[in-house]
Amino acid sequence: MSSNPARRPAVADPADLSAALADEPATIALGRRLARVLRPGDTVLLAGDLGAGKSTLARSIIRARAGAAIEVPSPTFTLVQTYDLPGGEVWHFDLYRLGAADEVWELGWEEAAGVAIVLVEWPDRLGPLTPADRLDILLETEPESPGRRATLTATGSGARATLRALSEAAP
Ligand SMILES: Nc1ncnc2c1ncn2[C@@H]1O[C@H](COP(=O)(O)OP(=O)(O)OP(=O)(O)O)[C@@H](O)[C@H]1O
Ligand SMILES: [Mg+2]
Repeated sequence: MSSNPARRPAVADPADLSAALADEPATIALGRRLARVLRPGDTVLLAGDLGAGKSTLARSIIRARAGAAIEVPSPTFTLVQTYDLPGGEVWHFDLYRLGAADEVWELGWEEAAGVAIVLVEWPDRLGPLTPADRLDILLETEPESPGRRATLTATGSGARATLRALSEAAP
């Protein structure tokens, strides 16, 4: 994982990081690293096309925080799955089928946002409800390889602290 040199400030406080994920195990490894630095109240927005690896990353985060290979179904149809874990709740949203942004209130958004660890697939559906403090992770296919590229962008002080911890953590 490396800081984007174009955006790297003089002090070691990266606002974004980029990582090549050569295969699915690499996506799972990134999820495990994220699981170690995420704290209750953190929001992670997982963007990327269909099949980019958003659920794979979310599943890895949830399993690592659970400390076991628990069942993590994709919330494709339920739109949200919640996990009451020892280190705090994790809410996993998949908003692909959300009709309008304000329908997230019916999914318990108010209870989760800023309190639990919140993972959101298809976060563009949030529109004006997009949290101000958030870690955006964009997953993209690579032009010349079967793998993916993850670009992590922190907005807000909480997300910046998370990204700093991630960049300082052991691989
Ligand atoms: N780094 C990677 N390199 C190659 N394949 C990967 C990588 N990470 C995940 N995959 C594979 O991509 C496929 C789609 O993954 P996943 O279901 O997580 O995508 P998604 O973004 O959640 O899709 P959807 O938009 O349908 O929710 C899976 O087969 C998974 O194994
Ligand atoms: Mg998915």
